[in-house]
Amino acid sequence: MASCLIGRQLSLCVQKNLWLSSAGCRYVSKAAAKTQVEYDYDGPLMKTTVPGPRSQELTKQLGDIQNVGAVHFFCNYEDSRGNYLVDVDGNRMLDIYTQISSIPIGYNHPALLKLMTNPNNLSTFVNRPALGILPPENFPDKITESLLSIAPSGMSRVQTMACGSCSNENAFKSIFIWYRNKERGHNTPSEEELTSCMTNQGPGCPDLSILSFMGGFHGRTMGCLATTHSKVIHKLDIPSFDWPVAPFPRLKYPLEEFSRENAQEEARCLEEVEDLIVKWRQKGKPVAGIVVEPIQSEGGDNHASADFFRNLRNISRKHGCAFHVDEVQTGGGCTGKFWAHEHWGMDDPAEIVSFSKKLLTGGYYQKDELQADKPYRIFNTWMGDPSKNLFLVEVLNVIRRENLLEEVTRSGKALLNGLYELQAQYPGLLSRARGQGTFCAIDARDAATRDRLMLQARDKGVLLGGCGDQSIRFRPALVFKEYHVHIFLNIFNDVLAQYK
Ligand SMILES: Cc1ncc(COP(=O)(O)O)c(C=O)c1O
Repeated sequence: MASCLIGRQLSLCVQKNLWLSSAGCRYVSKAAAKTQVEYDYDGPLMKTTVPGPRSQELTKQLGDIQNVGAVHFFCNYEDSRGNYLVDVDGNRMLDIYTQISSIPIGYNHPALLKLMTNPNNLSTFVNRPALGILPPENFPDKITESLLSIAPSGMSRVQTMACGSCSNENAFKSIFIWYRNKERGHNTPSEEELTSCMTNQGPGCPDLSILSFMGGFHGRTMGCLATTHSKVIHKLDIPSFDWPVAPFPRLKYPLEEFSRENAQEEARCLEEVEDLIVKWRQKGKPVAGIVVEPIQSEGGDNHASADFFRNLRNISRKHGCAFHVDEVQTGGGCTGKFWAHEHWGMDDPAEIVSFSKKLLTGGYYQKDELQADKPYRIFNTWMGDPSKNLFLVEVLNVIRRENLLEEVTRSGKALLNGLYELQAQYPGLLSRARGQGTFCAIDARDAATRDRLMLQARDKGVLLGGCGDQSIRFRPALVFKEYHVHIFLNIFNDVLAQYK
C-alpha cells in the first residue's frame, strides 16, 4: 500500500503545475511569495457541504456500533496530503486542526512513506514488542537518535508510553514513588505499608496529592482526570481525588495595555498556589507534584508569562514538590521552539516533561532521581511502540533539514498579525487574538457564534478546532507556510463578512 501511495504521490507531483488553484485572490494582507510544500495541494476544493452524503451514510453505519456524537466526517487518508485533509465525499480542506494537533509534518509525507518501503524496517512494523521485557536490539540507538536528541535541559532519561493520558498517569506515579522514597529516607517499606496498599488503605496507599490548575487538561484517565478542569463533560459521574486546584491567570488583551493588571493577576494565582500547598499539607494530603501546561490548550488557549512559570518552578522547589510540565499539546515545535517551556529560558525547567501528539509516541522525560527504583512499578504491556520511534527519527530529520521551527515562527507571525487585523475589522465578533508560533487562538463573541464560524469555514474548506468556552484554536502542522496563512485569512474573511 505504501509503494502504491508513493507512486500516486509522485504522479500527482508531476501534475501539480496543471492544477488550478481554488484559493481566492482577495487578500486581507499582503500575500507571501508562494513556496510549495512538496506533495501539498494548491488550495481547498469543496464539492459538498460537510458532512457530505457518504460521510452521513458511514456515520449512520458506525452509529449502530459506537457513539458517533463526536464524529465530524469520514476521511480519505490515502488522498490527503501535506496541509490538506480529504474527506470521503471528495472535499479537500486546509487542515488547521491536524487531528487535534497531532500531525507533525502533514499527511502522507514522502519521507515517512519511504520508511514503510525499507525492508529493514518491516519487522518493526509487524512485531509490536512488550518493550518493558523484550526490547529489540536497536531500541537504545533509536531512542537516542529520536527522543534523547530533543531532551529538555537537564533530562537524560525518557520513558515511552502509548498516549498522552497514559504518559501523565505514569508520570504522576513516578512522582508519588519518588516522594514516598524521599519521605521514608530510601528505606524499605514497612510491613504495614505492604499489607495496607493491597486494600487501598494508608499508609501503603498514601494521601498524597498533585496540584493542578483550573482550566487545565491532562487527560481523561482516572488520575489525570483529577487534574483536568476544562469541561464538565469530561468529569461528570467519575469519582475523583481531593487534590488542590489553583486558579490559572486569566490575562487581559492586548497584553501591552494591561501589563499592570496581568502582573497582579499572575501574582494572585501564585499566592493561591502557595496557600493551597500549605493547606493540603495541613490536611494530611501533601502536594507531591505540580502539573501545568505551558499554554492551557483544551481549556481555552490560556497563556501566562515566562515570569509566572519561573516563579511557579521556584515555588515547587521551595516546597519539595516535583514540577511536571505537560507538553502533550505544546511540544513538537508548534510554538516556534521544540518545547514551549524553552520560552521560559530556564536551565532546570522541570522534574518531568510529558509528551505525545506531534512526537507520535507518548512518554515523559524525567530527572535521574525520578526514575522508579524497581521494575514493574512503572509498567504496561507495550510501553510505547518502536515503529513510532522510527517515524520520529525521520520527522526530526525533516524538521532540521527544512528549518521548520523558523518556518513556524514566520508563519505564526503572519497568522497572528492576520488575526489582529481581523479582530480590528470585526470588533463585535472577534477578540483576544493570542499565540506563540502557530499555536494561536482567537475568541468569538459567544460559544454559538464560535461554533457557527467554524462550520461555515469548514464548508468553505478550512478545518479549525474549538477550545474553552468560545475560542477557536489554530493547530496546523509544522509545514504550514505563510501562503497557507493567507489562504486561511481570505476564506475566514469571507465567512466573517457575512456577519456585517
Ligand atoms: C495538554 C494535554 N495533556 C494530555 C492530553 C491527553 O492526551 P491523550 O488524548 O493522548 O490521552 C491532551 C490531549 O489533548 C493534552 O492536550
